[in-house]
Amino acid sequence: MRLDIISIFPEYFAPLDVSLIGKARRTGLLDVHVHDLRSWTHDRHRTVDDTPYGGGPGMVMKPEPWGEALDAVAPPDGPAPRLVVPTPSGRPFTQAMAAEMAAEEHLLFACGRYEGIDSRVVQEAATRMPVSEVSLGDFVLAGGEVAVLVMVEAIGRLIPGVLGNAESVADDSFAPGAMESLLEGPVFTKPPVWRERAVPEILLSGNHGAIARWRRDQALRRTAENRPELLGRLAPETLDKHDRKILADTGFPEHGEDMAN
Ligand code: ADE
Repeated sequence: MRLDIISIFPEYFAPLDVSLIGKARRTGLLDVHVHDLRSWTHDRHRTVDDTPYGGGPGMVMKPEPWGEALDAVAPPDGPAPRLVVPTPSGRPFTQAMAAEMAAEEHLLFACGRYEGIDSRVVQEAATRMPVSEVSLGDFVLAGGEVAVLVMVEAIGRLIPGVLGNAESVADDSFAPGAMESLLEGPVFTKPPVWRERAVPEILLSGNHGAIARWRRDQALRRTAENRPELLGRLAPETLDKHDRKILADTGFPEHGEDMAN
């Protein structure tokens, strides 16, 4: 997969040389190109921003450097990448969206700063490439750079070959499949007792059925505790009697009853 990233802070992307994504780049699974937006400015100060029409605080990124940058990185006569623009006004980024993006051949990330990019840039780009405006959550970052790092890691680890055999994306929280919409439960490794805290005995039992049941109980409990709104997305027919009892125990008797019907 090819990734292009346009930013006024190319140095933000040094972490993409490290760990999983760094290795994927070295082995050729990921072809990452980081571009400095200022290389498409033509004035002495390499200006990328200006005051907002209509007034208000802050500055807005000028359309001209962005237009030239997108033309250069995604030439109008070539195959179009998907343009991804991180912004708190975008659609929420999810695991499903990461999986869709992991199937693309070419992604182009445009990092805004200040109050954002002049809206005509996305409007015009959308006439010749698919565009996703994406938000990481209900908070405001200083710019899109960190959001792009997050998305590249979430997308990159889903590309076949990027994770080793030992790791798997199948049981991730939010992974599509059996545990859909449940958070992952707690995990343990050696030693069996640490600071007087023992690993739950069931995990040492070798009883795989009982271990799977215990893990599901933990996942249900943790989801009820931390993300109760996710429980509403569980298809009732995927819950057995034991699941319903666990949910009822966590203070969701209404769920227990609803789902029993
Ligand atoms: N840029 C600034 N805040 C952001 C957010 N919450 N998500 C994505 N991009 C952003």
